[in-house]
Amino acid sequence: MTESPDTAEVPAPPARTADWWREAVIYQVYPRSFADANGDGMGDLPGIRSRLPYLRDLGVDAVWLSPFYSSPQADAGYDVADYRVVDPMFGTLDDAVGLIADAHHYGLRIIVDLVPNHCSDQHEWFQRALSEGPGSRLRERFHFRDGKGEHGEVPPNDWESIFGGPAWTRTKNSDGTPGQWYLHLFAPEQPDFNWDHAAVRDEFATILRFWLDLDVDGFRIDVAHGMVKAAGLPDLGSLEQTKLLGNNATPSFDQDGVHEIYRSWHTILEEYDGQRIGVAEAWAPTLARTANYVRADELHQAFNFAYLATSWQANDLLSVIDDTLDAMRPVGAPATWVLSNHDVTRHTTRFANPPGLGTQIRTPGDPELGLQRARAASLLMLALPGSAYVYQGEELGLPDVTDLPDEVRQDPAYFRAAGQDGYRDGCRVPIPWTTTGPSYGFGTGGSWLPQPEAWASLSVEAQTGQAGSTLEMYRSALAVRSAHPALGAADNLRWCDSAQDVLVFERALDGGPVFTCTVNLTGAPITLTPPGRLLLASASVSLGPDHVVLPSDATAWWTTG
Ligand code: GLC
Repeated sequence: MTESPDTAEVPAPPARTADWWREAVIYQVYPRSFADANGDGMGDLPGIRSRLPYLRDLGVDAVWLSPFYSSPQADAGYDVADYRVVDPMFGTLDDAVGLIADAHHYGLRIIVDLVPNHCSDQHEWFQRALSEGPGSRLRERFHFRDGKGEHGEVPPNDWESIFGGPAWTRTKNSDGTPGQWYLHLFAPEQPDFNWDHAAVRDEFATILRFWLDLDVDGFRIDVAHGMVKAAGLPDLGSLEQTKLLGNNATPSFDQDGVHEIYRSWHTILEEYDGQRIGVAEAWAPTLARTANYVRADELHQAFNFAYLATSWQANDLLSVIDDTLDAMRPVGAPATWVLSNHDVTRHTTRFANPPGLGTQIRTPGDPELGLQRARAASLLMLALPGSAYVYQGEELGLPDVTDLPDEVRQDPAYFRAAGQDGYRDGCRVPIPWTTTGPSYGFGTGGSWLPQPEAWASLSVEAQTGQAGSTLEMYRSALAVRSAHPALGAADNLRWCDSAQDVLVFERALDGGPVFTCTVNLTGAPITLTPPGRLLLASASVSLGPDHVVLPSDATAWWTTG
């Protein structure tokens, strides 16, 4: 299935130009669900490799790959047993090297996921720490503690796992008696590393270099806000335990000490030619705290989860856009917009539901309205200054699959009954490429999560070349961005006067023309005097001689050029 790139028709490899990431559109590939080359129902690296021409034609600048490393898959690969080995279910290290080379050949950069907060309980260090028993030097590389209570039966502190239940699991001694406890902010199969230990820091420096030597362009840092814990691991007390966004600081997340790690990684990234980058997955309580991760000597981007969590309401969107740009300006970092990823309900389904339900939603809501709003939201995002992430399938307008049967679900949080993060399988259903076939072109076999029949009409094949399809809208939007780099690069957003619940902003483009973005959140069609020539719209716009009608929940792009 893997084809060698056709050298005759591909662009030059990406020049290692300055600051490419500031305006880049970066596409998240979730390897389990993108393309399956060997027909086992699970996506793999050769599958991704065979689909790189699609990503080039879509017009993205870079690809972020979720983890494909050796892993027992207790958390879909975010439980890494060996950071330098590709899991056989995804392929081989040669496949990874080939994928990176092909991507570069097609002009795409590659960002890989790095999971430094925790490893798998099958990681060699943890296995040895367990088998060597209390007193093992390897236990110091994790957070092992004696329990409280007369017989050590009470966990060392009151922290809860993000996936539900206590953040501590008790071990058994070799004679079968209950032993020490270890800390895991996520599943019990994901023991947290102790980042105060020099061996942990040294190990990750060499892991970074291992992948940089294989020519990756950067890292998405998993749980970037979690590695350093408050000294002494104090109780949380009355603080809300598992939700960080908008919360007060907690002793388990967003500790100031984490920034020293990023300063040291910055120097490693700088040792390599061109611009290798780090992207923080940091659920910090405020945008100002998020900006700390992208100070000039730390990482380059930090996902804007405050934006992702904002509902489809004009005032809220306006505030979060302004607050983001204000927070990033002092540190000189680009805003990093994101609407969907593998951990949240797709924005198509979020916006199909009433506001205020959070980022994990179980109900389909009004899918038609959701798609209309999602398309409008995507064009709004792609008109903002900075970089933007696109999660695989959002360019097809895929909704979440909200009715997966329990027996196919794999999200560990679902089984730990946490509620908050338990519905992530719904956004991880494999991509439909074709209108027919056993898994709609995902592969020649089945699909590890069932795809709805209705996805035939959302497939790449069904949407390609169809005027007005979501896929063609994304292609057009990305073509406009690449024709006008200032759209991403320039920090020049200016809000214009507008009616209630209509957002209008201007951006000066290179060479003089003015770009205008209009978003109608009134819930009804609006009549406008066009601020220029219509470039693109998320819904059909009726053009009159001197006015236009923009439907509700729609975004339009205009230019005076
Ligand atoms: C991040 C990942 C998520 C994973 C968790 C634990 O939030 O995006 O998928 O479950 O970290 O690694």
